[in-house]
Amino acid sequence: MIDNGTERKGGLKLAVFASGSGSDLQSIINAVERGDLHLEISLLVCNNPDAFALERARTHGIPSVLIDHRGRSRDEFEQEIRSELEKRHIDLIALAGFMRILTPDFVGRWRGKMVNIHPALLPSFPGVHAHRDAIAYGVKVSGLTIHFVDEGVDHGPIICQKSVEVHDGDTEETLGERVLEQEHIWYPKVLQWIVEGRVRLEGRKVKIETD
Ligand code: GAR
Repeated sequence: MIDNGTERKGGLKLAVFASGSGSDLQSIINAVERGDLHLEISLLVCNNPDAFALERARTHGIPSVLIDHRGRSRDEFEQEIRSELEKRHIDLIALAGFMRILTPDFVGRWRGKMVNIHPALLPSFPGVHAHRDAIAYGVKVSGLTIHFVDEGVDHGPIICQKSVEVHDGDTEETLGERVLEQEHIWYPKVLQWIVEGRVRLEGRKVKIETD
């Protein structure tokens, strides 16, 4: 599905999109630096000038572009992103706490080549308050979902899910921390599966080839 770039020097070129702290970005950087994830992080796209993700990219020598959505139309915003992606010949996009909804046009162009991580077991608790919603509902188990992006919000074909127990007395913060620990393990692993060409999209379903 994705040209896995094995014949190209440097391998797949990844763009990470982030809006906040960027701890998921950091887990991807760490995996590449450890040699567990064989791709090139070619670009950070960030829409928030205060995001710590920008600092993380700078520290690790990763090119970044700040495109503030404020003061731009949705078209202008996406057009600028598109041109940055083209300039750097990006193959794959990983949304990592990117808090903007992308248009169907953009999503269509990147179908099967753009993944997202969400801190709940989808289809439960999509949106920006996943932990708050999970705790309020009283679920005993929550977790994370890594999925291809489609036109719906936190909706596309699911590649990987991992569960995390919800404890009595959990707050958004305590549950969020435990889920993030798992995100940092699984997001780089799933990206490596994609690099290895083991992830196959079949309609709404995703098949993972095992060794
Ligand atoms: C992560 O928990 C990620 O799953 C979530 O934002 C957080 C980003 O943390 N994404 C969503 O809620 C997408 N709907 P980070 O900035 O520390 O990487």
